Amino acid sequence: MRGLFYFWPMLKKLEEYEKQIQELVIASKEDLENFRLQFLSKKGIIPKLFTAFRDVPNEQKKEFGQKLNVLKNLAETKFKDLQSGLKSGGATVDPNIDLTVPPFPTEIGTRHPVNMVRREIVSIFERIGFSVSEGPEIEDDWHNFSALNFPPEHPARDMQDTFFVAKDPDMALRTHTSSVQVRVMENQKPPIRTISPGRVFRNEAISARAHCIFHQVEGLYIDKNVSFADMKDTLLYFAREFYGPETKIRLRPSYFPFTEPSAEMDVYWGLETEADYRITKGTGWLEVLGCGMVDPNVLKSCGIDPEVYSGFAFGMGIERTAMLKYQVKDLRLFFENDKRFLDQFKSAY
Ligand code: PHE
Repeated sequence: MRGLFYFWPMLKKLEEYEKQIQELVIASKEDLENFRLQFLSKKGIIPKLFTAFRDVPNEQKKEFGQKLNVLKNLAETKFKDLQSGLKSGGATVDPNIDLTVPPFPTEIGTRHPVNMVRREIVSIFERIGFSVSEGPEIEDDWHNFSALNFPPEHPARDMQDTFFVAKDPDMALRTHTSSVQVRVMENQKPPIRTISPGRVFRNEAISARAHCIFHQVEGLYIDKNVSFADMKDTLLYFAREFYGPETKIRLRPSYFPFTEPSAEMDVYWGLETEADYRITKGTGWLEVLGCGMVDPNVLKSCGIDPEVYSGFAFGMGIERTAMLKYQVKDLRLFFENDKRFLDQFKSAY
């Protein structure tokens, strides 16, 4: 071995070992053990160097000895550090990585505008004592149509193009949340005050103004002596909470099989800008929901005596409401999850 112990090559070797130890990265216990065997074990490099130290000429002993001690300490500390790194389960840190550099910020998501509007509508009604109820999206004919006074083969069923479930003509994707009214009335005794948000499905061509999937909120109020005036007052409260305290409403006669009389509610939007003319078709008024007094036939179907109780119901589209609130021109934007669109609602959270 003597050939190894010429002084200059030896000093160079020490420097190489030092670098090797400093840069060492391990991934497992085996790596750590290999490191120990290579440098620190009895037959390892460092004990061998101490043996060799005896043969170093006296004049060079000081410099060589200092360097060797530094190397030994380095190897021992490194071994301990790697060992505790493995024990704590943490990966060994690459010394070239600066852990004090701040990471890239993580982006926080936003609520979807449909979700925000749904929450706002629901909370307005919760404040006046409405509870929230939900029903299934796949419904039977009874809850979606028959109990709601749509007779079989009645053309009124064509008002809402239905997606049927293959192999079972009795099952369909619900075309409106009015099906939840039926479920609530079947299961609860009046007085009933409930609001039912949910997803509905219609077999319609997709365009800027129509989609085959959308969301509605249904309201139902049943008690003794409930009048049309009660309905109007409740809807006026809603309109003023949602569209602003000065909002004006009007009720236009309409038709739904499950309400009698039926109406559509408009809010006064104004005619100030060109957009106002376009959205309101030049009238200044905008239709926002359908409503009416619950038809006695519907109460009967659900086991409620129409001689004792009366009530009103209403339903509105959430996307349509969100389009008005946020001035969104194309309904499809709500379903595409384009980040550039959704990011615009960050401040509205
Ligand atoms: N279900 C009706 C629709 O989808 C809305 C409505 C609900 C009308 C309740 C009156 C009462 O268009």
